[in-house]
Amino acid sequence: MDTSKQQAADWWSTDIIQMSPGEINFHGRPIQELIGNVSFVGMIWLMLKGELPKPGQEELFGAALMAGVDHGPQAPSIAIARMASSCGIGINNAMASAANVLGDVHGGAGEQCVALFNQILALQKDSELSLDQAADKVLGEFFDSGKKYVPGFGHRFHPVDPRSAPLLNLLRKAEDAGAVQAGYSAAAEAVEKTIAQRKGRHIPMNIDGATAAIYGALGFEPPLCRGLFVLSRSVGILAHSWEQMQRSERNKGPIPKGWLWTYTGKPVSQES
Ligand SMILES: CC(C)(COP(=O)(O)OP(=O)(O)OC[C@H]1O[C@@H](n2cnc3c(N)ncnc32)[C@H](O)[C@@H]1OP(=O)(O)O)[C@@H](O)C(=O)NCCC(=O)NCCS
Repeated sequence: MDTSKQQAADWWSTDIIQMSPGEINFHGRPIQELIGNVSFVGMIWLMLKGELPKPGQEELFGAALMAGVDHGPQAPSIAIARMASSCGIGINNAMASAANVLGDVHGGAGEQCVALFNQILALQKDSELSLDQAADKVLGEFFDSGKKYVPGFGHRFHPVDPRSAPLLNLLRKAEDAGAVQAGYSAAAEAVEKTIAQRKGRHIPMNIDGATAAIYGALGFEPPLCRGLFVLSRSVGILAHSWEQMQRSERNKGPIPKGWLWTYTGKPVSQES
């Protein structure tokens, strides 16, 4: 290959996909061998990790991705998908509008929570501390720094998040079977216990806490976990965008038409 052609080839060099006319390979695996043999979840794993999941990993990964797909139009991302669709824009625009609000505050707790679990597990490994002591030390520093809400715990709507226990059970089984890195379910429980001790009340693990424990155990880095949440929630965003597109409502606002917001500005001037 001449130098300029090589420069162009190297411009977007990637480990992920290789193509030539009539040939498509992902991480060295021909697409025709993947089709019918690898599930969508398995393909996500292959794309992100460069290999196929081992037994037990794909089921757990799929369960975490599945559990977070939707939380109804009370969630800003879903409401935005529906409002955007009612404005007559394309489905990709509605989906992008919704995905764009997923960040540190809405949808970001999972990423922050994996980082927290990693920090606790690393401290336990590098010290004489028990897991509970490591959790207490890390959370002590967390609260001392002025932060109030531990990511992955508490819920505005559910007294107990119905998604957490089944996900944690699956994680424990995978840990017992040696399919994933051990320690994350225990770290999640240690955090829950420590918050209860420090706050004097039980603040249960939510979906972001449970999926964070799973993604951590499966070896995903924290920033990637936010991407996984966006991937998962995109399923709900797609379904709601599509449902709303079937309706005749146009320019649907965030509250019913007859309701107005509270005005907090200057009163109407009486001066003529
Ligand atoms: C989701 C969330 C906003 C719900 O909060 P809420 O139930 O409305 O809780 P409130 O703000 O009314 O707080 C009630 C009390 O519980 C405490 N609390 C609630 N969630 C807490 C958490 N995650 N960590 C520590 N304390 C928490 C508050 O500090 C407050 O204590 P106080 O009475 O001593 O001040 C909150 O739990 C949170 O921010 N969690 C972390 C972010 C997260 O995981 N988001 C994803 C949700 S699926």
